Amino acid sequence: MLLFISYIRKMKIAIINGPNLNLLGKREVGIYGTESFENYFNSLQLKYPLVEFSYFQSNIEGEIVSELQRVGYIADGIILNPAAYTHTSVAIGDAIAAITAPLVEVHISNIFDREEFRKISYISAKAVGVISGLGMKGYELALSYFLK
Ligand code: DQA
Repeated sequence: MLLFISYIRKMKIAIINGPNLNLLGKREVGIYGTESFENYFNSLQLKYPLVEFSYFQSNIEGEIVSELQRVGYIADGIILNPAAYTHTSVAIGDAIAAITAPLVEVHISNIFDREEFRKISYISAKAVGVISGLGMKGYELALSYFLK
């Protein structure tokens, strides 16, 4: 008797959020909405049980660089909202250039419809794509890109 063992490898997706995104739900709710990221992330995990998620948030630039280096050779895809570091961080841009995992840059707000300084991104050229202005839904849209 032949025994077939089917093994489905879960896709590994890393979500990384930058500074102040730990305050989602209570931070500038007119721009970022009232939902906390923890709540949103829980519903994402329930909706996609065949995805192995990791989640990391930091207010510290170097910690984000270290997390990108950690997941950058093992994840199937990275969803990064670099928050304010988008507009300042050569180090995060360099880390993305160094790693092999494809990365989608996500912004909850439309960074092109805000202050001038937000129109500059040190990340976009290193990302496979950018989603901006679609609210929290942007994370799920980035995920659907990786799931194809
Ligand atoms: C943001 C946009 C950034 O300009 C800002 O500094 C953030 C959040 C967004 O998700 O819309 O903190 O990345």
